Amino acid sequence: MSEVTVIGLGPMGHALARALVVSGQRVTVWNRTAARADELVRDGAVLASSAAAAIAASPVTIVCVHDYAVAQQMLDGAAEVLAGRVLIQLSTGTPQDARDSERWAHAQGADYLDGAILATPTQVGRPDTPLFLSGSENALARAEAALNAIAGTRMYLGDAVGRAPAWDLATLSCLFGALLGFVHGARICETEGLAVGDLGVMIAGIAPVLGEMIKDTADDIQAERYENPDSSIKTCAMGSGLFARQAREAGIDDAFPAFAVGLFDRALAAGYAQERLAAIVKVLRASSAVERAGS
Ligand SMILES: NC(=O)c1ccc[n+]([C@@H]2O[C@H](COP(=O)([O-])OP(=O)(O)OC[C@H]3O[C@@H](n4cnc5c(N)ncnc54)[C@H](OP(=O)(O)O)[C@@H]3O)[C@@H](O)[C@H]2O)c1
Repeated sequence: MSEVTVIGLGPMGHALARALVVSGQRVTVWNRTAARADELVRDGAVLASSAAAAIAASPVTIVCVHDYAVAQQMLDGAAEVLAGRVLIQLSTGTPQDARDSERWAHAQGADYLDGAILATPTQVGRPDTPLFLSGSENALARAEAALNAIAGTRMYLGDAVGRAPAWDLATLSCLFGALLGFVHGARICETEGLAVGDLGVMIAGIAPVLGEMIKDTADDIQAERYENPDSSIKTCAMGSGLFARQAREAGIDDAFPAFAVGLFDRALAAGYAQERLAAIVKVLRASSAVERAGS
């Protein structure tokens, strides 16, 4: 019997399987496109003939495919072999996806963990690779060796299974917000003949200061502290208004400025001009995606 099975050999699943093989574990793999297993098999992994056979080969199975719907499609055909085994879902999804997946796994008698890797495939298997996990603590203990091989920096968020995907999506929201803003910043640089690479170097250098601002905003939201701003919503709104004007003056796309101005305008209309930036959370709390889609 192998020690761990990996189902899904896209770029991420392949990297997970590789890290497990390199760590010396006995690994079984399965993927819809079998050829993606060739290199792993050369290095000692065993290719199973079906998802069910792969799961039956190990006490612990890690699933990492495109999304939960694809994963469920594969697992449906393997339901009868899951009892008593650990199922770890590392495909990206929502907290509701994780809850549905856990409910199904428990109905088959499996121990379930949900997780999210905050890394690219080339960053898998390092001591600093972050992996968020939630769900069964017993499953966590049973899968310790495998998890250790794929990510050295694990954060277990408790048995409420939606927490790891929530933590992942919250982190990605911060990351994508910053990266989308950066790309607009790159366009600003291009309009004035500044090197975008230099902007990246400078921002990487001041990253700890930016991190401090994010942490301060987190503390303000947590404490519901909005008064006495260092930098008010009115000041920040003026800055984002300048992005919009620069985009018009330079004739560049204004999608990012329009998004930022839209949120600041809502905060100003709600009367938060003299409050901290954290007050934007009150604007977001006042409406939902469903209401906004209907308006
Ligand atoms: N790549 C990253 O940087 C990264 C980082 C963090 C998390 N993730 C997450 O990891 C998961 C896997 O990502 P990935 O980068 O490996 O690539 P991906 O393109 O999202 O997923 C590829 C995997 O899904 C399988 N698949 C897709 N559609 C299928 C279907 N209809 N039936 C059966 N199998 C199907 C592919 O099988 P075939 O090989 O047969 O096509 C392959 O195993 C995703 O949820 C992704 O969000 C990725």
